[in-house]
Amino acid sequence: MNWRTLYSRRIESMGHSDVVEMLKLAERPEVISFAGGLPDPETFLLEETRDALEEIFAQRGQAVLGYGPTPGIAPLRAWLAEHMTHLGRPSTVEECLVTTGGIAALDLICKVLLDPGDVVIVGEPAYVAALQVMRSYQGRFAGVPLDDEGMQPDALKSVLEAARLKSSHPKFIYLVPSFQNPSGVTISGARRERIIEIALHYGVPIIEDAAYRALRFEGQAPPLFASLEPRNVIHINTLSKVFNPGVRLGWVTAPQELVETLTLAKQGQDQCSTTIGQYLAFAFASKGLIKRQTSAAVEIYRRKRDAMLDALQRYFPPGARWTRPQGGFYSWVTLPEGIDTEALLPRAIEEGSVAYAPGPAFFHNRTGKEHMRLCYSYVSATQIGEGIRRLGHLLSEFQVATE
Ligand SMILES: Cc1ncc(COP(=O)(O)O)c(C=O)c1O
Repeated sequence: MNWRTLYSRRIESMGHSDVVEMLKLAERPEVISFAGGLPDPETFLLEETRDALEEIFAQRGQAVLGYGPTPGIAPLRAWLAEHMTHLGRPSTVEECLVTTGGIAALDLICKVLLDPGDVVIVGEPAYVAALQVMRSYQGRFAGVPLDDEGMQPDALKSVLEAARLKSSHPKFIYLVPSFQNPSGVTISGARRERIIEIALHYGVPIIEDAAYRALRFEGQAPPLFASLEPRNVIHINTLSKVFNPGVRLGWVTAPQELVETLTLAKQGQDQCSTTIGQYLAFAFASKGLIKRQTSAAVEIYRRKRDAMLDALQRYFPPGARWTRPQGGFYSWVTLPEGIDTEALLPRAIEEGSVAYAPGPAFFHNRTGKEHMRLCYSYVSATQIGEGIRRLGHLLSEFQVATE
């Protein structure tokens, strides 16, 4: 069977998954890979997981191995409602939907909101998997550039105004406001208010993806978009960065009416998210273990961030610039003109045994060759120095050769 001839049009628009290719590169043992955005397994609490599972089986028996309710088990939803309220977005249980991770949450939202050809607004550079999900629903993109304070409000306004003049009505604005993937930047409090004001003026909802928000190394956290404007913001979150990604749990907090429709769509996605995993997550959350794990992870990632920034300063060529994230997993590098990070990647792997994520994957129109994303969360602190040394050496050589 020639399967390609049977593929839907949707597959064509999904394009090639750079992330999958990137993760393959990370697997060769000699390669120091800054490509994938993976948590450090050292942060996972193995003993506590084992104890919690034993307790769950003893208390609840076989029930935890069965199907669960589509919107999530009651105690976890109640905890999420309380957690969101604590974060400044007063929430009821009915406004919280458990999902199979953060990206599945976005998939559900796109399933409910996007028709083929609909325009979505994304801050660029953008999270690769989010672009992929939106493409899979045949969304079209309008990119709004980010700077060191995140999405630029004036640029957002221009994009929305241009859309209005063409009688086009973008479906939503997708943002990762804190420690954004891939840039590491955070939208300041003042900008958040301005972005909300603009979005309200044009009647476009905001999807706030807060995947990294809890991993703050320093400074004061700006308010959640969802706390500033609960009625027009869909909040997506995940336990993948603060608990573990293997259990596959995330959530959506949004107005109840939308959560009910998302729940309906979830029936056709996976019926329910992992029942045993939800009990485990609830046990961790209610015993304060997610908090403990997060605090320990923040210390580990802060040290790694520092190691990466020091090494960049030491080894990267003059003219290179990079972001200084106050949390999360990533720094975003802008290289001197003439360096093409996509073309350089095979050489980096073959000659330098070092890998990174090249810029174009993060732009809907595949521009941005002068950028690279460096993820410091997974590689050990000592390997970070060595990997950046190798990369800096290669970049300097490349620069000399092209001068
Ligand atoms: C911005 C952002 N959102 C969501 C996720 C979703 O993670 P998961 O589906 O593993 O919960 C990630 C993971 O890399 C991310 O970077």
